[in-house]
Amino acid sequence: MAQEDQSRHGMWSSRLLFILAAAGSAVGLGNIWKFPYIVGENGGGAFVVVYLVCIFLIGVPIMMAEVLMGRHGRQSPINTMRLLVKESNARPFWIMIGWMGVLAGFLILSYYAVIAGWAFYYIFQLASGLFEGADGAFATETFNTFLADPWLMLFWQTLFMALTVFIVSRGVSRGLEAAIKWFMPLLFILMVAVVGYSMIWGDFAAGLSFLFSFDVSALSVDGVLIAMGQAFFTLSLGMGAIMAYGAYVPMNTSVTQTVITIALLDTGVALAAGLAIFPIVFASPGLEPGQGPGLMFVTIPLALGNLPFGAIVGAIFFALVSFAAITSAISLTEPALAYLVEEYNAKRERVAISLGVICWVLGIGTVLSFNVWADFHIVGEKTFFDFVDYVSQNIMLPLGGLLIALCAGWVLPKALVKAQLKLPAGVEPVWSVLIKFVAPAGVLAVFVYTLFGNVVA
Ligand code: PFF
Repeated sequence: MAQEDQSRHGMWSSRLLFILAAAGSAVGLGNIWKFPYIVGENGGGAFVVVYLVCIFLIGVPIMMAEVLMGRHGRQSPINTMRLLVKESNARPFWIMIGWMGVLAGFLILSYYAVIAGWAFYYIFQLASGLFEGADGAFATETFNTFLADPWLMLFWQTLFMALTVFIVSRGVSRGLEAAIKWFMPLLFILMVAVVGYSMIWGDFAAGLSFLFSFDVSALSVDGVLIAMGQAFFTLSLGMGAIMAYGAYVPMNTSVTQTVITIALLDTGVALAAGLAIFPIVFASPGLEPGQGPGLMFVTIPLALGNLPFGAIVGAIFFALVSFAAITSAISLTEPALAYLVEEYNAKRERVAISLGVICWVLGIGTVLSFNVWADFHIVGEKTFFDFVDYVSQNIMLPLGGLLIALCAGWVLPKALVKAQLKLPAGVEPVWSVLIKFVAPAGVLAVFVYTLFGNVVA
């Protein structure tokens, strides 16, 4: 049952590079743009606690499962699942994990590129000094004017997609590693610097208390589902991205240690983003934490625009957000890309371009959701963007994660899992309980709770 030691797509050149690559996938818009605004919309501290519990009790074991499955299969998630099904004498049903992941990847990347395009645009807005002397109203107005212009948004979305396609088409070491090696360390350093700014010039105490004070009454049923969806999204779980990256991990790398490191890095960046943004919100009249997707685009320019060297630091901040988004976007394409290369012996470049075009077209729906189609609702109050975001992040990723946990816990041969994880005897039962019971039950409970909550609501 021994698998090949190499993947045909290439391998990470070291343990550190895998950590950076997986952290590159995990740390992205989800941490810097989304985490603060959904914390803001869902009442703060209590939401953060649910989120942290989901990360460590559900996210970490599922991430370990994805890495071990990918590393055993050494192929795209679809073909890895085919192999695992064969070796486990399981039903072909489980291959759905791979297919659903490809679909979720398309949906997520389609809107991810649009929001990353906003960050691109803001690099130049800040560098131009536009926000010098700005107040909250000006920052909000500037953002709204941008949202109202579909052509401008389309331009930046196109640029982001083109850059992503260019990097992924170069392959694992020349493309993925080359980008990740530089962007990630820079991002960590800059995050610390921006938190420092916020500590000095924002209302840090109010920001801290919003992020960490526990007020259960502020948490809704929907909030719990959103927290879990966010845990999956931020760790890039449930859609095979980490499984695809796992296929390139050398055998001598410890799965458990690396996964815990990745989860800590990811959580650290999300909390740092909250600590950078909320103190500014509370120190600026006219801004509120629950203002939605524009939060980062209003607070950061406002905070930095008024400070010495703020324009340049702000431009660098948005450049790094864009890079963090690119290192995530490339992992969103990897499951589909690797599969098409394997299945049709196609050239990576060609497949990358085709995938990029499909996502780009789909993304136009998101671009229009903020202007021309703003009043067009797919279900309830949800615009096209809200709908794609909700279905992919809050339904498809947790469902994918549930299936992955069940497959790793109940379907795969024990020997296979053991050979991959090499856990010390004392830790093995903990892993078993988490992957067999806690993670699936957690995901299921939240689904049922939400359904029930919506029925009574
Ligand atoms: N984890 C990324 C973020 O937090 O921005 C988003 C993401 C990347 C989700 C890759 C899923 C994925 F497969």
